[in-house]
This record gives sequence, C-alpha cells and structure tokens, in this order.
Amino acid sequence: MKISLVTTNRGKFAEIGAMIREKGYEVEHIPVAYPEMQAESLEMVVLQGLEWLMEKYNRPLLVDDSGLFVDCLGGFPGVYSAYVYHTIGCDGILSLMQGIQNREAHFACCLGFIEPSKEAHLFIGTSNGTISTKKIGDEGFGFDPIFVPVGYDNTFAELPMDVKNNISHRGAAFKKFFEYLKTEHQE
Ligand code: IMP
Repeated sequence: MKISLVTTNRGKFAEIGAMIREKGYEVEHIPVAYPEMQAESLEMVVLQGLEWLMEKYNRPLLVDDSGLFVDCLGGFPGVYSAYVYHTIGCDGILSLMQGIQNREAHFACCLGFIEPSKEAHLFIGTSNGTISTKKIGDEGFGFDPIFVPVGYDNTFAELPMDVKNNISHRGAAFKKFFEYLKTEHQE
C-alpha cells in the first residue's frame, strides 16, 4: 500500500518517511497546507484536516499534528506550536522561561489516517522531558534544540534521527499506527 503523507514540514516528512519505509510501505509526499481550524486539541485539527483532504485526494492519507506543551506556561505553545515557532522560535520560549526552575514539558503527536470510504483513525504519542536553558544541536527541526527527553542528557537536536524516532512522541504514535495497519491490512 502507498501512504500519502500530507505536510509542508520537511522535518516531519524526513522522520515519518523513514519510519514508513522501514516498515515496507511506500510513501508519497503531498506538500500541501490543509486548513487548520482554531481548535483546543490536536485531534480536532487532524479530523477536520483529513475530511478536507479526502475530498481533494481520494487515497490513503496520513497527517501529523503535533506540538510542544510547557508546564510552567500552562501548556503553551501547544496547538499554536507552528505559529509560535515561526514567530518567537526557540529563543522566545527560552526568554519566557528565564529564571524558572520548573522546566518540565512534553511533546504530543496526533497522527490521523484515512482511507477512501473508511472512517478516520487517530493515534496519539507523547514524549516527556525538560526545556534546556540554551539551544543545543543541529539535527531535527522545530523545538528540538531546546527539548531534553527523559533519560537523556542531550536535546532531541543532538540525537540521530533513528534514536529520536525510537523515543519520540511521533515514534510512539507510529508504533500504534503500524499495529493498526498490521491488523487492517494483513497481506
Ligand atoms: P503542526 O503540527 O504543523 O501544527 O506544527 C507543529 C510544530 O510543533 C512544528 O512546527 C514544530 O515547531 C513543533 N514540533 C512538532 N513536533 C516536533 C518535533 O518532533 N520536534 C521539534 N518540534 C516539533
């Protein structure tokens, strides 16, 4: 089966594309922005996006909506992560957290998958960690240089992609997605 991944984020496509291929599926990249409604949850954004996309592309579609949730900021930037990254970026988050001791945070990823004439399915993954006091590392994308996953002394941006995929929110969501594919498409 060929899975079409809809995202304009090249970092996401690199990570997701590698995980899909590793499992023996074909992957197509559709670099299109779907309308993201203003919503309080990643799940709502994904469900609305899938509905809109299925009208346009009648094929197995996968989307990923994810975000960084910082405890001391009441979960900000959360569903606004893409906007916040493109406006204040990692430096802005570090400034907001200057002098703050509680640096706990988590990433969440909501994957949505839909096939023609079938219902949409959602797969959620999270990854806990802390926000560093400075940016470190060049790998990955987005807020990777300021996120230190639990059990590591390095930021996501210091870890090779296969290591990140193994412990990340996206990797966790993918494990569930592949379990679903295995049972739905026993070939
Ligand atoms: P969206 O899913 O396109 O709404 O955007 C999610 C935003 O959250 C991205 O633009 C990144 O800034 C951030 N983000 C999501 N996942 C990751 C990740 O794995 N590493 C770093 N930043 C991420």
